Amino acid sequence: MTNNETSPLLAPYALGPLELPNRIAMSPMTRFRGDEDGVPLPIVAEYYAQRAGAGLIVSEGIWPSFSGQSGWRIPGLVTEDQVRGWRRVTDAVHAAGGRIAAQLMHGGRMAHPDTRIDGGHPPAPSPVPLPFQVHTRYGKADPVVPAEMTGEDIREAVADYARAARNAIRAGFDLVELHGANGYLIHQFLADNTNLRTDAYGGAGRARFAAEAVRAVAEEVGAERTAIRLSPGNPQFGMAEADPAPVYRALLAELDPLGLAYLHLTEAAGSGYASLADLRPRWSGTLIGNVGENGEPTTREAAEEVLRSGRADLVSFGRAFISNPDLPHRFATGAPVAPPETKEHFYDHGPEGYTDYPAASAELLAAAR
Ligand SMILES: Cc1cc2nc3c(=O)[nH]c(=O)nc-3n(C[C@H](O)[C@H](O)[C@H](O)COP(=O)(O)O)c2cc1C
Repeated sequence: MTNNETSPLLAPYALGPLELPNRIAMSPMTRFRGDEDGVPLPIVAEYYAQRAGAGLIVSEGIWPSFSGQSGWRIPGLVTEDQVRGWRRVTDAVHAAGGRIAAQLMHGGRMAHPDTRIDGGHPPAPSPVPLPFQVHTRYGKADPVVPAEMTGEDIREAVADYARAARNAIRAGFDLVELHGANGYLIHQFLADNTNLRTDAYGGAGRARFAAEAVRAVAEEVGAERTAIRLSPGNPQFGMAEADPAPVYRALLAELDPLGLAYLHLTEAAGSGYASLADLRPRWSGTLIGNVGENGEPTTREAAEEVLRSGRADLVSFGRAFISNPDLPHRFATGAPVAPPETKEHFYDHGPEGYTDYPAASAELLAAAR
């Protein structure tokens, strides 16, 4: 038996009713391939279908409400056209034998009036602006001071997640993942420097918004179809969390009994917190680990080590999936793994650097054997 056949990444996994052929998840990656109305372009279906060999695809972050749109031409899950657009994507993935979760991403302070179709002012837990410029439809702009969310704004945002989750299921997604990581709205509630509130959503209640959003989505589409992504202590996008452990332990104590589909946990470089080791024993369900944030793209070896140590059940790969649409197949056959895409085409709107990465050819496979 070769090393390839014994890789823990290649073992099947039962995620509720979903039979995953391997433990390799495709990590969510925003790629700006929506049209100006926030409808995914036809190439989005092709892109994800090319990657259907992943045990589970997690889609790019998708906005759950107009007020959550943090990038011009990031797609949404609000309008009927958007639902129809995503239906084309999920049909293509399923026809190719894959499974796909929708990541719901509300930008909070990451947004700007010029990233939004409706031109509205971004809401956030507290009026703390991003410490850097924002990419808008007209180019780079200084960040705006976000509007502190009122109690009514919070109730609406929670309801928006639930409505968008319903739309995700109507659009054919298998699961819904709330983006609670990497500096987006839910993370802004969790972190010290972006949540200065003195009401029930601040201080000791900083995990309350995350818990309410998860519960609302679980009530709408079922806990078994609901998941959340968290990145405790991740300093990306100007976030600061002095002592993440107690906050995230308390959040997981609330979420674990709900019986969610999975927890997607990012152990980010620079967080100063070994979150996978600390939180794995506090999560009884499926855990997808990610170890590449703020560092080099996740390697096969790093991912295998995470699985062998029992710190996660699956591992998500981001950048490696851009340049290797058939990543699991390459791991299984020993075909060479293509180097990661340079950032050049990360945020374009066309097929270059998106759908034009080939699968490993028969020739490459033969050479690798
Ligand atoms: C182009 C790009 C876009 C990303 N967009 C998202 C996103 O929409 N939601 C999210 O949770 N993470 C996003 N991420 C983070 C990735 O999901 C992943 O955690 C990160 O790239 C580290 O994994 P890797 O080393 O395997 O690439 C993005 C990363 C990249 C490179």
